[in-house]
Amino acid sequence: TRRQHAPKGLRSPPGPRGLPMLGSVLELRKDPHLVLTRLSRKYGDVMEVTIGSRPVVVLSGLETIKQALVRQAEDFMGRPDLYSFRHVTDGQSLTFSTDTGEMWKARRKLAQNALKTFSIAASYLVTKFLQLMEEKQSFDPYRYMVVSVANVICAICFGKRYDHDDQELLSVVNVVDEFVDVTAAGNPADFIPLLRYLPSRNMDSFLDFNKRFMKLLQTAVEEHYQTFDKNNIRDVTDSLIEQCVEKKAEANGATQIPNEKIINLVNDIFGAGFDTVTTALSWSLMYLVTYPHMQKKIQAELDQTIGRERRPRLSDRGMLPYTEAFILEMFRHSSFMPFTIPHSTTRDTVLNGYYIPKDRCVFINQWQVNHDEKLWKDPQAFNPERFLNAEGTEVNKVDAEKVMTFGLGKRRCIGENIGKWEVFLFLSTLLQQLEFSIQDGKKADMTPIYGLSMKHKRCEHFQVKKRFSMKSSN
Ligand code: HEM
Repeated sequence: TRRQHAPKGLRSPPGPRGLPMLGSVLELRKDPHLVLTRLSRKYGDVMEVTIGSRPVVVLSGLETIKQALVRQAEDFMGRPDLYSFRHVTDGQSLTFSTDTGEMWKARRKLAQNALKTFSIAASYLVTKFLQLMEEKQSFDPYRYMVVSVANVICAICFGKRYDHDDQELLSVVNVVDEFVDVTAAGNPADFIPLLRYLPSRNMDSFLDFNKRFMKLLQTAVEEHYQTFDKNNIRDVTDSLIEQCVEKKAEANGATQIPNEKIINLVNDIFGAGFDTVTTALSWSLMYLVTYPHMQKKIQAELDQTIGRERRPRLSDRGMLPYTEAFILEMFRHSSFMPFTIPHSTTRDTVLNGYYIPKDRCVFINQWQVNHDEKLWKDPQAFNPERFLNAEGTEVNKVDAEKVMTFGLGKRRCIGENIGKWEVFLFLSTLLQQLEFSIQDGKKADMTPIYGLSMKHKRCEHFQVKKRFSMKSSN
């Protein structure tokens, strides 16, 4: 993976040279999205940096990223062979493995189909938060949200809920911090082989997390196999088992996926489905208590459109432009997935006139797009109204599509719709009934902690107040 020379007539992407060994990693370790955004101003949308012993191409600018991920989609759809990625789902993950051929295509389609069949619901949290307020002065909502969100994806995948103090589930969802730390773009052990042989607490917990995670899911899958009935497909796991059964019946279909590779798709779906949505909700609450007038505005919109007699439903979403604009602005401003999962070129290619060889690791800087002064007026300001028309009655589609949160092209997130629906339903359900605030004299610390998904520091000082009493649920 050393730097190669470009063929005659073609230039390699520009970038900072020097300090090839450790330099870039040490510099990148602290907020790489900011460092790389700064460097992109100097070197442009296609630049090359060296991280440890590995050259990495970094893409910025919405048009350049669209060119690579959409118009030259085949070239840029790969995943790099990174040390940390080999440990996710025994190296067989749809999301993290280097596979991009027919097998990957067939598995991705299968996962997409399995997801289509199931929709969602949630409102346990309102009761939980009120109960917490009765017991204590304040609380950390993240701890409770992560279990509720995990339970939504559990219902989709396994048709079952876990108890809020189920130790097996808690031991997985509560240690996700190490996962997002190790799989983040620029993890040193992925770029400096030597580091793999040194003891690392993060790496140990990461390996431990992957083991526990596999075990939790294996137990559920075994239960499903034992009770499987092809006339009663209960959830994603059943639907995946059905694919295994049907595949046998058909024999030599276009692509033969081994059974394990079908069943362990549930890992990808489950894993991608709880951390991202929890993080989105958690940032939303931080913004809501920081900007109370925005919370009031959402609540006014909910009161006006839905009223207080019934709970919000998915079908209300189109009628709540301010709420939608707030969610978009949360995605844009936090850019809590600063990079997509790293990509890799599948063949030699040329982008914006620069030569990029096969198997080059590629970072896609979503944070840069979401804070690009060429695309956004005053990008540092948190302002949901930037997405609304003058009357505040409609979300501007063109602006909404400039927000980069789910990637683009062939590797685009397959859970985008489910993810957005979940964020909408959780937030509108919570805000219809509860008013969130932060304890007097405390402030929400919004400094992001770098990772595959960036978190804020946990905040113990949240408070809720009931807005009104609801007669019954629907
Ligand atoms: C991939 C974001 C929710 C399943 C991705 C990627 C991003 C992303 C940035 C990487 C794209 C790339 O590498 O180019 C998000 C965000 C979510 C969310 C921000 C919520 C707010 C979900 C949910 C599911 C899901 C709910 C499943 C139910 C996946 C899978 C991939 C993926 C399987 C890997 C696709 C592949 O490698 O081919 N997501 N996601 N995501 N996401 Fe999501």
